[in-house]
Amino acid sequence: MQGPVLVVGAGAMGAGIAQVCAQAGREVTLVDVDQGVLDGALERMRPSLEKLAKKGNIRETPGIVLRRVRTVLSADGAAEPQPEAVLAIEAVPEDPELKRRILKAMEGAVSSTALIATNTSGVPVTALAESLQEPGRFLGLHFFNPPALMRVVEVIRSERTTTESFDAAVALVRSLDRDPVQVQQDLPGFVLNRIAMTASNEAIRLVQEGVATAEDVDRGVKGAFGWRMGPLETADLVGLDVVLAARGGIFDQTGDPRFEPPALLRDLVDQGHLGRKSGRGFYDYSDGEGDD
Ligand SMILES: NC(=O)c1ccc[n+]([C@@H]2O[C@H](COP(=O)([O-])OP(=O)(O)OC[C@H]3O[C@@H](n4cnc5c(N)ncnc54)[C@H](O)[C@@H]3O)[C@@H](O)[C@H]2O)c1
Repeated sequence: MQGPVLVVGAGAMGAGIAQVCAQAGREVTLVDVDQGVLDGALERMRPSLEKLAKKGNIRETPGIVLRRVRTVLSADGAAEPQPEAVLAIEAVPEDPELKRRILKAMEGAVSSTALIATNTSGVPVTALAESLQEPGRFLGLHFFNPPALMRVVEVIRSERTTTESFDAAVALVRSLDRDPVQVQQDLPGFVLNRIAMTASNEAIRLVQEGVATAEDVDRGVKGAFGWRMGPLETADLVGLDVVLAARGGIFDQTGDPRFEPPALLRDLVDQGHLGRKSGRGFYDYSDGEGDD
């Protein structure tokens, strides 16, 4: 499936997705409501591409890759028709109403053969499909942050996605030099965040109950299971308020006790200990280091 890509939302994820598509040789139209965000997105791509080129991970020069990205200022999803686009993906904030409006506009801008996708982490893909006239070609493409470095992409089948569209999306992800994880049911947290959340909740409970320190849990998980970061240092990096909101959202949707935010997580957030950004979370960063 050769052809251009439309990316709506040029924040952390949209800019990264646009870069990944351009690296793979695709022309990209990147849309945002904020000109500063669009300019910043292009500025961040250059050093990222330079690093990838230095490591030999891309064959073209950053300048050639960047010339494939065209930025457009618009609040309406796509300022102009995109008849050649083979994929339109949205990465606007996690607001279901906003996403529905943008998806509808995107569907109006592309041809009837294009795939339409959401990069949502938390909104059910099936609930977003309702906004489209042809929900069969709509699915989740869940890139991980930062998209330029994270090779795994979850491809999520909604209740309405056709097998043809799902298979085309898997092939398209491979064509972007990314590794598609095929998610056959639209469950809250899809596959990988469910695993990460349950492991991290258990890690927090073990610390809460005094079974082990945060440092020992993280060191043990890294040493025994080969994780690059432990679950508690990851939570501190993401921000404990963000972690609590994501976990609480899934718990509210499912009532599944595996996702219930542990008391220690709630207490830390209540006390303003939000992880690295506030100087303290599971670790103390006041001296610039993460000490237990
Ligand atoms: N940040 C992550 O780690 C991460 C990881 C995976 C998935 N996601 C998902 O990706 C999506 C985007 O997240 P993000 O972290 O990039 O958010 P972000 O806030 O960095 O970027 C969102 C962008 O959308 C733009 N926007 C808002 N309204 C718009 C409109 N009407 N038209 C065009 N652009 C508009 C904003 O100006 C902003 O630049 C969310 O659904 C999020 O759940 C995020």
